[in-house]
Amino acid sequence: MNISSAEFLTSSTRVENCPVPDKPEYAFIGRSNVGKSSLINMLVNKKGLAKTSSTPGKTQTINHFLINGITHPWYLVDLPGYGYAKSAKSARESWERFVRYYLAHRENLICTFVLIDMRHPPQAADLTFLEWLGKNGIPFQIVFTKCDKLSKGQIEVLFTHYQERLLQDWEEMPGFFLSSAETRLGRDQILLLIDQLNRDWAGMTPLKSPAP
Ligand code: GTP
Ligand code: MG
Repeated sequence: MNISSAEFLTSSTRVENCPVPDKPEYAFIGRSNVGKSSLINMLVNKKGLAKTSSTPGKTQTINHFLINGITHPWYLVDLPGYGYAKSAKSARESWERFVRYYLAHRENLICTFVLIDMRHPPQAADLTFLEWLGKNGIPFQIVFTKCDKLSKGQIEVLFTHYQERLLQDWEEMPGFFLSSAETRLGRDQILLLIDQLNRDWAGMTPLKSPAP
């Protein structure tokens, strides 16, 4: 898919204040520093569109970006990360409620991309979050980030390990991508999936009645 434009639209603190849900929407989520902002910028070819921050957990809002606004518009959403060991438990819990409410209630949310850094052993926060998505019937894909930091052999070993762990919770391996914001690995595949899902959405959206 060709990305002809990408612009920041809104930051919302409530699902009710998000843009009108009339375009297909894709959310990106994962632990802080996993590479969400970098992946978003890499996908849309625009450095600095999604702001990077050295302060974990700083983002507390649902950030909407409008992609291909004039041609075939869709929303890309940057969400704050989950599972910050350092933030206060109460803040973490209220944040988790807020994001889970968004994920469970946003009617135009087509797919959530869950970013995971394979270099760390499978983390409880990631596994629990994936299970929660599954239990709630929220479609997702996993994106393993920062693959440029690993050799092909390391990727094979770490991926096999991760897959074995996931298959303890899942009957089959959830959909996944290998990615790198540095080498742009995974870009074409992720955009291809979004393009296909956008087409499905367009097919499902009721046609407007012809003008009299
Ligand atoms: P928060 O906004 O804090 O939740 O973090 P984030 O998930 O948005 O991560 P961000 O994109 O800001 O990246 C964190 C750090 O990882 C930055 O220093 C990036 O340059 C680096 N990084 C992100 N993606 C990649 C990648 O694919 N390869 C390499 N080598 N570094 C990456
Ligand atoms: Mg970020």
